[in-house]
Amino acid sequence: MRLLLLGPNGQLGTDIRAAAETRGGIELLPLGRERLDLTAVERIPKVLGGTDFDVLVNCTGYHRTDEAEDHADLAFAVNAFAVRALAEACAARGAHFLHVSTDYVFGGLDRATPYTEADGIGPLNVYGASKATGEALALKTHADTLVLRVASLFGVAGASGKGGNFVETMLRVGRETGHLRVVDDVRMSPTSTADIAGRILDLLEARAPGGVYHAVNAGDATWYEFARAIIETARVPATVEPCTSADYPTKAARPPYSALNAGKLTAATAPLPHWRDALERYLRAKGHTG
Ligand SMILES: NC(=O)c1ccc[n+]([C@@H]2O[C@H](COP(=O)([O-])OP(=O)(O)OC[C@H]3O[C@@H](n4cnc5c(N)ncnc54)[C@H](OP(=O)(O)O)[C@@H]3O)[C@@H](O)[C@H]2O)c1
Repeated sequence: MRLLLLGPNGQLGTDIRAAAETRGGIELLPLGRERLDLTAVERIPKVLGGTDFDVLVNCTGYHRTDEAEDHADLAFAVNAFAVRALAEACAARGAHFLHVSTDYVFGGLDRATPYTEADGIGPLNVYGASKATGEALALKTHADTLVLRVASLFGVAGASGKGGNFVETMLRVGRETGHLRVVDDVRMSPTSTADIAGRILDLLEARAPGGVYHAVNAGDATWYEFARAIIETARVPATVEPCTSADYPTKAARPPYSALNAGKLTAATAPLPHWRDALERYLRAKGHTG
């Protein structure tokens, strides 16, 4: 498999590179922003037309959720129109396309059970709307497209687009201040990029049929519950206090509930571990536990 990887140095991209190295049969071709900036949508056919690959994995994203509210042009360029051009390039050469999307395509209002792929979307913010458009354009353009909705990622590289991840932020603030206040009225699916990276390769190796797949660790949590697990597992001497999202107003509205059901993915590959298990492995890998 000649796998062309966009976003190779991001949080998820880094773990896909690591996972590919440990498997045989995958020639991974990293294609970073320095060689293809997706805001230059018109360059995509030329750059991809001159590259030999049979699978394209797109881990890029403009996902600064609050900033995107004032930069809809940029969000739609990277998250939607570039994605359509990538799908067109894959269709032109008969390549598989795997595109990474988000739980923020859902609205989460009056919701209490994990979303399946059959549920209707309803993004609440510009970022979610741009990713939802990217999904639709990719699926419409190229039937051999797999859209993978991931959520609340943590991986050893940290999100380059966000300057770290939630786990590292909680550890740093907990150590610095000894006290954390974290929202307890937003429920989501904490997810390890290391675990998702493995499943992405599984799906591609299985030549899974096109369509949408939810890719998250088992279990769900509020951000408060997740923060408590981080602080307790890493044995940081800090207290964690629950608060509401009204205590931390943000520019972009966020879904109060966006847990995902990954049953379709696990049926196609294998069950995903619980996020607590993934968190323990992450903290060990980063040297945060003994
Ligand atoms: N992080 C989360 O919690 C989360 C949650 C749900 C969904 N997602 C989605 O999951 C995917 C991966 O997220 P992540 O956490 O791995 O993000 P990340 O660490 O910020 O990585 C994003 C990658 O996209 C690249 N990129 C951004 N703008 C680009 C552009 N204009 N041209 C070319 N490359 C560009 C970045 O390149 P540079 O390294 O050069 O900046 C980086 O390699 C994204 O599609 C994101 O929308 C993330």
